[in-house]
Amino acid sequence: MNQVEVCLTPELIGQFDLTNKIVVAVDIFRATSCMVTGMAHGVKSIHPVGSVEECLELGLKKGMITAGERGGKKLEEFTIGNSPYEYMRDEFQDKSIVVTTTNGTRTILASLAADQILIGAFLNLRSVANYLSTSRKDVVIHCAGWKGTVNIEDTLFAGALIEEIKASHKRKGDPSLIAHQLYRANAHDLMEIAKESSHAQRLATFGIGKDIEFCMNQSLYSVLPEFKDGKLEAI
Ligand code: MLT
Repeated sequence: MNQVEVCLTPELIGQFDLTNKIVVAVDIFRATSCMVTGMAHGVKSIHPVGSVEECLELGLKKGMITAGERGGKKLEEFTIGNSPYEYMRDEFQDKSIVVTTTNGTRTILASLAADQILIGAFLNLRSVANYLSTSRKDVVIHCAGWKGTVNIEDTLFAGALIEEIKASHKRKGDPSLIAHQLYRANAHDLMEIAKESSHAQRLATFGIGKDIEFCMNQSLYSVLPEFKDGKLEAI
């Protein structure tokens, strides 16, 4: 049986050996949920970058749509912010988006030592699980957290994914046990606990509580984005 571990924040990723493993990068509120939504709505490719400067430069040089946030707020100079609803626009079909976010894009870029990097969200939970179940590879679920701290929503997702792949992957380490137990205790109403999370409350003060509810929808999309050669493409 293969193993599944959980890294609760990018600050801890150095403690994991990612060689020959699949990393599932996750930032439920909202970076990876936006990416999954965009790919499901026909965006051609999404390019996660680490800084605002890189984002603006790529946007200008390659004619990409610029997207992202800092502290949850859209940057004035970007075309769109970090709401899944913005990624649904018809005019973005077959277009490329370059994005930088506070934690999510950082998490993806900190996973480069892995054999393969998949983008996970509740929105594509079933697709991620199906792929992993037949992969015959060990898995690390890499949670974005918030500025170095652990968060509820990514940990809940990690637990939900562990539950989905338990026939093929055995939990390894206490963080995976914490995530699994947290999920099991709240599976009857994930929204109830998710809305208590500090980032959900932060976003609610910006008047975008509807993003929270959307990001908690399970397996709405079948798309499975992979990060390879600097960009996300559906596999
Ligand atoms: C992040 O990357 O930290 C988030 O996606 C923040 C947000 O909700 O915009």
